[in-house]
Amino acid sequence: MRIGIIGGTGVYDPEILSDISEEEVVTPYGTIKVTLGKFGEKEVVFLPRHGAGHKVPPHKINYRANIWGLKMLDVTEVISTSAVGSLNKEMPPGEMVLLDQFLDFTKNRVYTFYDGGPAGVVHVDYSEPYCPRVREVLLAAAKEEGINLIPKGTYVCTEGPRYETPAEIKAFSVLGGDLVGMTNVPEVVLAREAGLCYVSVALVTNWAAGISPHPLTHKEVVEIMNANIAKLRRLLMKSITALTEDPDCPCHHATRELNQF
Ligand code: HPA
Repeated sequence: MRIGIIGGTGVYDPEILSDISEEEVVTPYGTIKVTLGKFGEKEVVFLPRHGAGHKVPPHKINYRANIWGLKMLDVTEVISTSAVGSLNKEMPPGEMVLLDQFLDFTKNRVYTFYDGGPAGVVHVDYSEPYCPRVREVLLAAAKEEGINLIPKGTYVCTEGPRYETPAEIKAFSVLGGDLVGMTNVPEVVLAREAGLCYVSVALVTNWAAGISPHPLTHKEVVEIMNANIAKLRRLLMKSITALTEDPDCPCHHATRELNQF
């Protein structure tokens, strides 16, 4: 089996891997650069979401190329990481949250591989947007490692690249959001369409706008990420070791209704 790791802000290198090689994957949506390597017996594909050196802003990420590229490399399970602001008092900076729901406030992205025409039409179920089977693996891994991983959280995805206004954060809070970031949508959506098992670990780097006592900066986000990266890596290593393949996982069959209309 091959496991994909999508590294978000502050997670740019596949430090935990051995037998490393770089590869360019040409997809119908564009070319991506990944690092292939091994962790123990497992083959891993590492993809820095923002490109090498954090050069691509959230609204310009080629989400379709990223997900299709992993698919072309025979990846079946994906663990993604991201930095987030928190609007939930129970989720302070430094904590990690295993996402279980999202609210989409993006405005100008491509959300599907299925645009009609030759690609076909499909309406995919997102009752459980993040693979429940792989979520359980991460929760067990965290428990075994003695790492605090908050088991549920609703991610609000904004368009960015600006941070939010306090009024937006107040509104997101009323709507049931816990965390705010700029990248999980459409990544999670496309992963399910591509039949990948996908989970996402959010590391809280700051209180969201209006809750934070000071203006937000990217520097602060990166600093808190760096201060907690060892814990995140430990969680990834344990999870990779514990992950197994399951061809019957419903995630792999999400588009079974394709062209059935
Ligand atoms: N808002 C949006 N994205 C973020 C934040 C935030 O407060 N922190 C880290 N990524």
